[in-house]
Amino acid sequence: MDFTPVLDMESKEPLYQQLYLQMSRAIATGTISAGERLPSIRQLAKSSGVGKITVEAAYQQLLAEGYITSRERSGFFAAELDVWAEGTEHRTKPRRVEIPQKKERKLPNTRYNFHGSVVDTGAFPYREWRTCMLEAMERHAEDFAFYGDNQGEWEFRVELADYLRRARTLHCEPEQILIGTGLQQALSFMCLLLADRHRVVAVEEPGYADARVVFSHHGYEVVPIPLEDDGLSIESLERSGATVVYTTPAHQYPHGMVMPVAKRQRLLQWAGKVRGVIIENDYDGEFRYNVKPTPSLQGMDRDGTVVYIGNFSKAFSPALRLDLRCVWTIRCSLQSCWSATSLLSRPIRPRSPGICSEPCSCLCKRDIGKSMYGK
Ligand SMILES: Cc1ncc(COP(=O)(O)O)c(C=O)c1O
Repeated sequence: MDFTPVLDMESKEPLYQQLYLQMSRAIATGTISAGERLPSIRQLAKSSGVGKITVEAAYQQLLAEGYITSRERSGFFAAELDVWAEGTEHRTKPRRVEIPQKKERKLPNTRYNFHGSVVDTGAFPYREWRTCMLEAMERHAEDFAFYGDNQGEWEFRVELADYLRRARTLHCEPEQILIGTGLQQALSFMCLLLADRHRVVAVEEPGYADARVVFSHHGYEVVPIPLEDDGLSIESLERSGATVVYTTPAHQYPHGMVMPVAKRQRLLQWAGKVRGVIIENDYDGEFRYNVKPTPSLQGMDRDGTVVYIGNFSKAFSPALRLDLRCVWTIRCSLQSCWSATSLLSRPIRPRSPGICSEPCSCLCKRDIGKSMYGK
């Protein structure tokens, strides 16, 4: 074989790595022809002035990546590859890009920061939070070694269901709760679930732009519904042709008005009439200055048309992304199927074998859609 590696004994790069790189390149570019026999470990160690272990490590790496094959008692051979023209491998080299320095995030020197998403750092219970974190790690260390519950930890959901019933008047059981990482993830999930039967989504205008973007990205037609003094216009909604509406009844974003009971009833009636779905975003819903927080729309729903999405971004911290509680009144068993927190990034592992082994959208549509629509 007409190939002599040139190894730099002074380099910081390990010798086996240099050898592996030079040989893989030689094979890939055809300098070492396909099927050609390579020198034995002993021969190559001797000719290149390195130890046998070095050559062995390089050969192991080449074997693992498929550049060479080994035949018992015959030695090592260059694999059959589509040969790259010399130099093409450089195309795959990453280009150096200038990474801008992280900007110092300096809050302007103001007494009150009215940014809509900021929480009061002075009110955050850092000490208690740290104590809880440490305690959790000490008492449940083994839980950190594996994936958690697909829907979110059971004990957490039990507490949350209790809180949501008391504080937000929801009808909800822990089985109906799904913990995730934020509104957009929740909406993306909704988009996957609803795609079979719904094409047009109505959104409040003005409203939270990021929500609208999610619907558009999923290919839905998005229809803006103007606001009246007491929330979205039901007449416009009725005319819109939408069968899904996204709304913020407890605290309209950005205007802050509360949807009164009569309008909520009309909204629920609309959903019943068009066999529609109401997505209730309760962001900020816990906060009122002078009165008790207004109840959730989901709590008034008797027909299972409302999907409630809330989060801890305002009551706790937006940075933790401990963020979503998505509650289905719609008759469904979520339990059997999905990984909540990483819903959109990895395939579902069905709990009970045989339900479905396909990725999430199919599984969810089939399983949850069935229970949603009773088919
Ligand atoms: C109406 C509304 N919903 C949701 C969010 C953010 O939700 P999350 O923290 O779950 O991403 C915001 C953030 O400003 C918001 O204004």
